[in-house]
Amino acid sequence: MTRLDKYLCDAGIGTRSEVKNYIKKGRVSVNGSVVKNADLKLNENKDHVLFDGKAVSVCGLVYYMLHKPAGYISATKDDRDQTVLDLLADAPGKDLAPVGRLDKDTEGLLLITNDGALSHRLLSPKKHVDKTYLVHTKDPVTAQMATLLENGVDIGDEKPTLPAKVTLLSETCQLLLTITEGRFHQVKRMMIAVGTEVVYLKRLSMGPLVLDETLPKGSFRPLTEKEKAELGVL
Ligand code: URA
Repeated sequence: MTRLDKYLCDAGIGTRSEVKNYIKKGRVSVNGSVVKNADLKLNENKDHVLFDGKAVSVCGLVYYMLHKPAGYISATKDDRDQTVLDLLADAPGKDLAPVGRLDKDTEGLLLITNDGALSHRLLSPKKHVDKTYLVHTKDPVTAQMATLLENGVDIGDEKPTLPAKVTLLSETCQLLLTITEGRFHQVKRMMIAVGTEVVYLKRLSMGPLVLDETLPKGSFRPLTEKEKAELGVL
């Protein structure tokens, strides 16, 4: 048995206070009758809950785009550091987790969801999902260095990195790098392998998902229907 407000919250309908408000306004019905009592006990397996006339998804899958700021670690819990989930403390949904990791000092696009299947699809080494980063380097990256990066470099692992895509930007010491793997500190190690260092790193995209630059650093928003469709979760 679960309280109605908790059930709606876990299903991603809204924060606890938002769903209480929706209930008060008569937007929620249980087994065909409008319910205005947020602490009504539900049997999740039997009771039929509608929000604004639409069935509430029992699986409660939620998808958020976070503009990760530096200083947060990509984990669900940590004893020492703040985690990216601290930035989503208010977000509706249960068992949220980041899809993959960005280093503590890396900024940019991070998908946060409780859809384990999607997470697996995006992170599986076999799927070769493109990840594009804006990279600022200590030294200018020459055309020769770009070719090395594009062909694959030895970063001390068993195998060299897979072919990547490099776009040198007109601003010196800045480039776009697209990789299809997700090895530990991969971009930083690739830059070291060609003789320079990363001084700033920001992820701009992951597969079809592109960072919404109107999203202030440290903020999140639910994915749009279009973004979800592009990820194949609709
Ligand atoms: N590569 C890195 O080195 N760091 C990141 O955070 C992401 C990719």
